[in-house]
Amino acid sequence: MKEQLLKIQEAAKLALENAHTAAELEDARVRFLGKKGELTAVLRGMGKLSAEERPVIGQIANEVRGQIENMIETKKAAVFMEERQAKLKEETIDVTMAGRKPQMGKRHPLTTVLDEIKDIFLGMGFSIAEGPEVELDYYNFEALNIPKDHPARDTQDSFYITDNVILRSQTSSVQVRVMEQQKPPIRVIAPGRVYRSDAVDATHSPVFHQIEGLVVDKGITMADLKGTLDTFLKTLYGPEAKMRLRPHHFPFTEPSAEVDVSCFVCGGKGCRVCKGEGFIEILGAGMVHPKVLERCGIDSSVYSGFAFGMGLERVVMRRMNIDDLRLFYDNDLRFLKQF
Ligand code: PHE
Repeated sequence: MKEQLLKIQEAAKLALENAHTAAELEDARVRFLGKKGELTAVLRGMGKLSAEERPVIGQIANEVRGQIENMIETKKAAVFMEERQAKLKEETIDVTMAGRKPQMGKRHPLTTVLDEIKDIFLGMGFSIAEGPEVELDYYNFEALNIPKDHPARDTQDSFYITDNVILRSQTSSVQVRVMEQQKPPIRVIAPGRVYRSDAVDATHSPVFHQIEGLVVDKGITMADLKGTLDTFLKTLYGPEAKMRLRPHHFPFTEPSAEVDVSCFVCGGKGCRVCKGEGFIEILGAGMVHPKVLERCGIDSSVYSGFAFGMGLERVVMRRMNIDDLRLFYDNDLRFLKQF
Protein backbone atom coordinates (compact mmCIF):
# COMPACT_ATOMS: atom_id res chain seq x y z
CA MET A 1 0.00 0.00 0.00
CA LYS A 2 2.81 2.31 0.84
CA GLU A 3 4.29 1.59 -2.57
CA GLN A 4 0.98 2.33 -4.20
CA LEU A 5 0.86 5.70 -2.45
CA LEU A 6 4.37 6.61 -3.51
CA LYS A 7 3.53 5.60 -7.06
CA ILE A 8 0.58 7.96 -7.01
CA GLN A 9 2.83 10.72 -5.77
CA GLU A 10 5.26 10.06 -8.64
CA ALA A 11 2.46 9.94 -11.19
CA ALA A 12 1.03 13.19 -9.83
CA LYS A 13 4.41 14.87 -10.04
CA LEU A 14 4.74 13.85 -13.69
CA ALA A 15 1.22 14.86 -14.60
CA LEU A 16 1.69 18.27 -12.99
CA GLU A 17 4.93 18.86 -14.84
CA ASN A 18 3.04 18.38 -18.09
CA ALA A 19 0.15 20.65 -17.15
CA HIS A 20 0.42 24.06 -18.83
CA THR A 21 -3.03 25.51 -18.50
CA ALA A 22 -5.44 26.05 -15.64
CA ALA A 23 -7.76 23.47 -17.21
CA GLU A 24 -5.06 20.80 -17.37
CA LEU A 25 -4.14 21.54 -13.78
CA GLU A 26 -7.73 21.09 -12.65
CA ASP A 27 -7.91 17.77 -14.53
CA ALA A 28 -4.87 16.58 -12.61
CA ARG A 29 -6.33 17.65 -9.27
CA VAL A 30 -9.55 15.72 -9.94
CA ARG A 31 -7.59 12.70 -11.12
CA PHE A 32 -5.50 12.41 -7.94
CA LEU A 33 -7.35 14.19 -5.14
CA GLY A 34 -10.96 14.14 -6.31
CA LYS A 35 -13.72 12.03 -4.70
CA LYS A 36 -13.27 9.43 -7.37
CA GLY A 37 -9.53 10.11 -7.58
CA GLU A 38 -6.66 7.66 -7.27
CA LEU A 39 -5.64 8.63 -3.73
CA THR A 40 -9.19 8.35 -2.43
CA ALA A 41 -9.46 4.88 -4.01
CA VAL A 42 -6.36 3.68 -2.15
CA LEU A 43 -7.54 5.14 1.17
CA ARG A 44 -10.79 3.22 0.83
CA GLY A 45 -8.77 0.02 1.16
CA MET A 46 -7.43 1.12 4.60
CA GLY A 47 -10.26 -0.70 6.36
CA LYS A 48 -8.60 -3.99 5.55
CA LEU A 49 -5.37 -3.05 7.35
CA SER A 50 -4.41 -4.16 10.83
CA ALA A 51 -4.60 -1.72 13.75
CA GLU A 52 -0.78 -1.26 13.76
CA GLU A 53 -0.50 -0.68 10.03
CA ARG A 54 -3.36 1.79 9.79
CA PRO A 55 -1.75 4.84 11.51
CA VAL A 56 1.52 4.30 9.60
CA ILE A 57 -0.19 4.14 6.21
CA GLY A 58 -2.55 6.95 7.27
CA GLN A 59 0.42 9.19 7.97
CA ILE A 60 2.02 8.39 4.64
CA ALA A 61 -1.27 8.98 2.86
CA ASN A 62 -1.60 12.39 4.54
CA GLU A 63 1.94 13.27 3.56
CA VAL A 64 1.31 12.24 -0.04
CA ARG A 65 -1.88 14.30 -0.12
CA GLY A 66 -0.01 17.26 1.36
CA GLN A 67 2.78 16.89 -1.21
CA ILE A 68 0.36 16.74 -4.12
CA GLU A 69 -1.56 19.73 -2.79
CA ASN A 70 1.70 21.69 -2.46
CA MET A 71 2.75 20.73 -5.96
CA ILE A 72 -0.62 21.89 -7.32
CA GLU A 73 -0.38 25.24 -5.50
CA THR A 74 3.13 25.85 -6.79
CA LYS A 75 2.18 24.85 -10.28
CA LYS A 76 -0.93 27.05 -10.16
CA ALA A 77 1.18 30.16 -9.76
CA ALA A 78 3.46 29.08 -12.59
CA VAL A 79 0.57 28.32 -14.93
CA PHE A 80 -1.03 31.65 -14.10
CA MET A 81 2.18 33.46 -15.07
CA GLU A 82 2.55 31.34 -18.17
CA GLU A 83 -0.97 32.08 -19.33
CA ARG A 84 -0.60 35.78 -18.63
CA GLN A 85 2.63 35.94 -20.60
CA ALA A 86 0.97 34.25 -23.57
CA LYS A 87 -1.96 36.65 -23.41
CA LEU A 88 0.27 39.70 -23.16
CA LYS A 89 2.29 38.51 -26.11
CA GLU A 90 -0.86 38.08 -28.15
CA GLU A 91 -2.13 41.55 -27.25
CA THR A 92 1.11 43.40 -27.77
CA ILE A 93 0.73 46.85 -29.28
CA ASP A 94 3.63 48.16 -31.28
CA VAL A 95 3.68 51.76 -30.16
CA THR A 96 6.39 52.60 -32.67
CA MET A 97 4.13 51.71 -35.60
CA ALA A 98 3.02 54.63 -37.80
CA GLY A 99 -0.57 55.74 -37.01
CA ARG A 100 -3.48 56.11 -39.39
CA LYS A 101 -4.20 59.76 -40.19
CA PRO A 102 -7.82 60.79 -39.61
CA GLN A 103 -9.44 62.27 -42.71
CA MET A 104 -9.97 65.99 -42.33
CA GLY A 105 -13.24 67.34 -43.67
CA LYS A 106 -13.30 70.38 -45.91
CA ARG A 107 -15.82 73.00 -46.80
CA HIS A 108 -17.72 72.41 -50.01
CA PRO A 109 -16.81 74.93 -52.74
CA LEU A 110 -20.46 76.03 -52.96
CA THR A 111 -20.45 76.83 -49.23
CA THR A 112 -17.12 78.66 -49.40
CA VAL A 113 -18.22 80.93 -52.24
CA LEU A 114 -21.72 81.48 -50.80
CA ASP A 115 -20.13 82.65 -47.55
CA GLU A 116 -17.91 85.07 -49.50
CA ILE A 117 -20.93 86.43 -51.35
CA LYS A 118 -22.90 86.84 -48.11
CA ASP A 119 -19.96 88.69 -46.54
CA ILE A 120 -19.76 91.11 -49.46
CA PHE A 121 -23.45 92.00 -49.25
CA LEU A 122 -23.49 92.15 -45.45
CA GLY A 123 -20.61 94.62 -45.81
CA MET A 124 -22.85 96.77 -48.03
CA GLY A 125 -25.59 96.88 -45.40
CA PHE A 126 -27.79 94.02 -46.68
CA SER A 127 -29.37 91.51 -44.35
CA ILE A 128 -30.24 87.88 -45.10
CA ALA A 129 -33.82 86.77 -45.75
CA GLU A 130 -35.26 83.28 -46.12
CA GLY A 131 -38.34 81.70 -47.58
CA PRO A 132 -39.78 78.20 -47.92
CA GLU A 133 -38.65 75.79 -50.63
CA VAL A 134 -42.16 74.32 -50.81
CA GLU A 135 -43.94 77.43 -51.97
CA LEU A 136 -47.35 78.67 -52.96
CA ASP A 137 -47.94 79.34 -56.63
CA TYR A 138 -48.86 82.87 -55.56
CA TYR A 139 -45.35 83.74 -54.31
CA ASN A 140 -43.44 81.90 -57.00
CA PHE A 141 -45.49 83.24 -59.94
CA GLU A 142 -48.73 85.16 -59.43
CA ALA A 143 -47.41 87.99 -57.24
CA LEU A 144 -44.37 88.26 -59.50
CA ASN A 145 -46.57 89.26 -62.42
CA ILE A 146 -46.22 85.89 -64.10
CA PRO A 147 -49.64 85.28 -65.62
CA LYS A 148 -51.29 81.87 -65.80
CA ASP A 149 -50.32 81.30 -69.44
CA HIS A 150 -46.64 82.21 -69.01
CA PRO A 151 -44.24 79.49 -70.28
CA ALA A 152 -42.34 79.50 -66.95
CA ARG A 153 -45.41 77.91 -65.38
CA ASP A 154 -45.26 74.93 -67.67
CA THR A 155 -45.15 71.74 -65.63
CA GLN A 156 -42.05 70.89 -67.66
CA ASP A 157 -40.19 73.61 -65.81
CA SER A 158 -41.65 73.45 -62.31
CA PHE A 159 -42.33 70.64 -59.89
CA TYR A 160 -45.98 70.82 -58.85
CA ILE A 161 -47.12 69.29 -55.59
CA THR A 162 -50.72 70.40 -55.99
CA ASP A 163 -52.29 72.99 -58.33
CA ASN A 164 -51.38 75.66 -55.82
CA VAL A 165 -48.18 74.35 -54.26
CA ILE A 166 -44.83 73.89 -55.99
CA LEU A 167 -41.15 73.49 -55.23
CA ARG A 168 -40.00 77.07 -55.79
CA SER A 169 -38.36 77.54 -59.16
CA GLN A 170 -36.70 80.83 -58.21
CA THR A 171 -35.73 82.69 -55.04
CA SER A 172 -37.71 85.68 -56.37
CA SER A 173 -40.57 84.28 -54.26
CA VAL A 174 -38.70 85.59 -51.21
CA GLN A 175 -38.88 89.15 -52.65
CA VAL A 176 -42.66 89.04 -52.29
CA ARG A 177 -42.56 87.54 -48.79
CA VAL A 178 -40.11 90.21 -47.61
CA MET A 179 -42.09 93.10 -49.15
CA GLU A 180 -45.29 91.82 -47.55
CA GLN A 181 -43.68 91.82 -44.11
CA GLN A 182 -41.27 94.76 -44.19
CA LYS A 183 -41.79 98.39 -44.99
CA PRO A 184 -39.10 100.17 -47.03
CA PRO A 185 -36.21 100.79 -46.78
CA ILE A 186 -35.54 97.15 -47.69
CA ARG A 187 -32.09 95.76 -48.41
CA VAL A 188 -31.88 91.96 -48.40
CA ILE A 189 -30.30 89.00 -50.10
CA ALA A 190 -32.01 85.61 -50.06
CA PRO A 191 -29.82 82.62 -50.85
CA GLY A 192 -31.40 79.21 -51.21
CA ARG A 193 -32.25 76.06 -53.13
CA VAL A 194 -34.50 76.15 -56.16
CA TYR A 195 -36.01 73.35 -58.25
CA ARG A 196 -36.65 72.94 -61.94
CA SER A 197 -37.69 69.92 -63.89
CA ASP A 198 -34.48 69.70 -65.93
CA ALA A 199 -32.56 66.60 -66.96
CA VAL A 200 -29.11 66.36 -65.40
CA ASP A 201 -26.17 67.29 -67.61
CA ALA A 202 -22.94 69.30 -67.32
CA THR A 203 -24.81 72.59 -66.93
CA HIS A 204 -28.25 71.55 -65.59
CA SER A 205 -29.50 70.06 -62.37
CA PRO A 206 -33.09 69.78 -61.06
CA VAL A 207 -31.82 71.30 -57.79
CA PHE A 208 -29.52 74.28 -57.70
CA HIS A 209 -28.96 77.48 -55.72
CA GLN A 210 -29.83 81.09 -56.34
CA ILE A 211 -29.03 84.26 -54.48
CA GLU A 212 -31.76 86.86 -54.74
CA GLY A 213 -31.18 90.53 -54.02
CA LEU A 214 -33.82 93.18 -53.30
CA VAL A 215 -33.53 96.89 -52.51
CA VAL A 216 -36.59 99.11 -52.11
CA ASP A 217 -36.51 102.73 -51.00
CA LYS A 218 -37.33 106.26 -52.12
CA GLY A 219 -35.41 107.33 -55.21
CA ILE A 220 -33.78 103.99 -56.08
CA THR A 221 -32.66 103.99 -59.72
CA MET A 222 -30.92 101.76 -62.23
CA ALA A 223 -27.69 103.54 -61.24
CA ASP A 224 -28.00 102.03 -57.76
CA LEU A 225 -28.41 98.59 -59.30
CA LYS A 226 -25.34 99.05 -61.49
CA GLY A 227 -23.25 100.49 -58.65
CA THR A 228 -24.20 97.68 -56.26
CA LEU A 229 -23.51 94.90 -58.76
CA ASP A 230 -20.27 96.51 -59.95
CA THR A 231 -19.00 96.75 -56.37
CA PHE A 232 -20.08 93.16 -55.73
CA LEU A 233 -18.40 91.76 -58.86
CA LYS A 234 -15.14 93.66 -58.31
CA THR A 235 -14.98 92.40 -54.72
CA LEU A 236 -15.68 88.80 -55.77
CA TYR A 237 -13.62 88.60 -58.95
CA GLY A 238 -10.98 91.32 -58.40
CA PRO A 239 -10.71 95.03 -59.32
CA GLU A 240 -10.16 94.31 -63.04
CA ALA A 241 -13.55 92.64 -63.41
CA LYS A 242 -15.80 94.50 -65.86
CA MET A 243 -19.59 94.35 -65.90
CA ARG A 244 -21.90 94.43 -68.92
CA LEU A 245 -25.69 94.82 -68.97
CA ARG A 246 -27.79 93.48 -71.84
CA PRO A 247 -31.47 94.27 -72.23
CA HIS A 248 -33.70 91.33 -71.29
CA HIS A 249 -37.21 90.51 -70.14
CA PHE A 250 -38.46 89.34 -66.78
CA PRO A 251 -42.15 89.72 -65.94
CA PHE A 252 -41.37 91.11 -62.47
CA THR A 253 -38.79 93.76 -63.40
CA GLU A 254 -39.00 96.71 -65.80
CA PRO A 255 -36.59 97.48 -67.32
CA SER A 256 -34.77 94.15 -67.08
CA ALA A 257 -31.24 93.14 -67.91
CA GLU A 258 -28.94 90.19 -68.01
CA VAL A 259 -25.62 90.93 -66.40
CA ASP A 260 -22.31 89.60 -67.69
CA VAL A 261 -18.91 89.75 -66.05
CA SER A 262 -15.63 89.83 -67.96
CA CYS A 263 -14.10 86.36 -68.27
CA PHE A 264 -11.82 85.62 -65.34
CA VAL A 265 -9.42 83.73 -67.61
CA CYS A 266 -8.86 86.15 -70.52
CA GLY A 267 -10.16 89.35 -68.95
CA GLY A 268 -12.44 90.09 -71.91
CA LYS A 269 -10.29 89.23 -74.95
CA GLY A 270 -12.10 85.97 -75.65
CA CYS A 271 -10.89 82.46 -74.92
CA ARG A 272 -12.01 78.83 -74.60
CA VAL A 273 -13.64 79.31 -71.20
CA CYS A 274 -15.89 82.20 -72.32
CA LYS A 275 -16.30 80.62 -75.78
CA GLY A 276 -14.69 83.65 -77.44
CA GLU A 277 -17.24 86.04 -75.91
CA GLY A 278 -14.96 87.73 -73.39
CA PHE A 279 -17.94 87.92 -71.04
CA ILE A 280 -19.89 85.39 -69.02
CA GLU A 281 -23.55 85.74 -68.02
CA ILE A 282 -24.03 85.37 -64.29
CA LEU A 283 -27.26 87.03 -63.27
CA GLY A 284 -30.63 88.51 -64.12
CA ALA A 285 -31.70 91.87 -62.74
CA GLY A 286 -33.94 94.88 -63.15
CA MET A 287 -36.08 97.54 -61.52
CA VAL A 288 -38.90 95.98 -59.49
CA HIS A 289 -42.10 96.16 -61.58
CA PRO A 290 -44.58 98.71 -60.14
CA LYS A 291 -47.29 96.02 -60.28
CA VAL A 292 -45.21 93.82 -57.97
CA LEU A 293 -44.66 96.67 -55.49
CA GLU A 294 -48.39 97.49 -55.46
CA ARG A 295 -49.36 93.84 -54.94
CA CYS A 296 -47.20 93.84 -51.82
CA GLY A 297 -48.78 97.04 -50.53
CA ILE A 298 -45.90 99.36 -51.41
CA ASP A 299 -46.85 102.67 -53.06
CA SER A 300 -45.02 102.66 -56.40
CA SER A 301 -45.41 106.42 -56.76
CA VAL A 302 -43.30 106.90 -53.63
CA TYR A 303 -40.96 103.91 -53.68
CA SER A 304 -38.87 102.18 -56.31
CA GLY A 305 -36.50 99.28 -56.12
CA PHE A 306 -34.14 96.94 -57.91
CA ALA A 307 -33.80 93.18 -57.77
CA PHE A 308 -31.33 90.63 -59.04
CA GLY A 309 -30.95 86.87 -59.00
CA MET A 310 -27.82 84.87 -59.66
CA GLY A 311 -27.08 81.18 -59.95
CA LEU A 312 -24.58 80.13 -57.30
CA GLU A 313 -23.32 77.05 -59.19
CA ARG A 314 -22.59 79.18 -62.22
CA VAL A 315 -20.63 81.74 -60.21
CA VAL A 316 -18.57 79.01 -58.52
CA MET A 317 -17.95 77.14 -61.81
CA ARG A 318 -16.66 80.25 -63.45
CA ARG A 319 -14.68 81.32 -60.46
CA MET A 320 -12.97 77.97 -59.92
CA ASN A 321 -12.81 76.82 -63.52
CA ILE A 322 -15.09 73.82 -63.00
CA ASP A 323 -16.67 72.62 -66.22
CA ASP A 324 -19.24 70.10 -64.95
CA LEU A 325 -21.97 71.00 -62.48
CA ARG A 326 -22.49 67.34 -61.50
CA LEU A 327 -19.15 67.43 -59.66
CA PHE A 328 -20.79 69.57 -56.95
CA TYR A 329 -23.24 66.82 -56.05
CA ASP A 330 -21.32 63.58 -56.69
CA ASN A 331 -19.48 63.74 -53.35
CA ASP A 332 -16.33 62.43 -54.99
CA LEU A 333 -13.50 63.05 -52.52
CA ARG A 334 -10.95 63.38 -55.32
CA PHE A 335 -12.86 66.47 -56.46
CA LEU A 336 -13.75 67.87 -53.05
CA LYS A 337 -10.18 67.56 -51.73
CA GLN A 338 -8.95 70.13 -54.23
CA PHE A 339 -10.60 73.06 -52.47
N1 PHE B 1 -35.62 84.93 -60.94
C1 PHE B 1 -34.91 85.16 -62.17
C2 PHE B 1 -34.47 83.78 -62.72
O1 PHE B 1 -34.54 82.81 -62.03
C3 PHE B 1 -33.70 86.04 -61.96
C4 PHE B 1 -34.06 87.43 -61.56
C5 PHE B 1 -34.18 87.78 -60.24
C6 PHE B 1 -34.28 88.40 -62.52
C7 PHE B 1 -34.50 89.09 -59.87
C8 PHE B 1 -34.60 89.70 -62.18
C9 PHE B 1 -34.70 90.02 -60.84
O2 PHE B 1 -34.05 83.69 -63.86
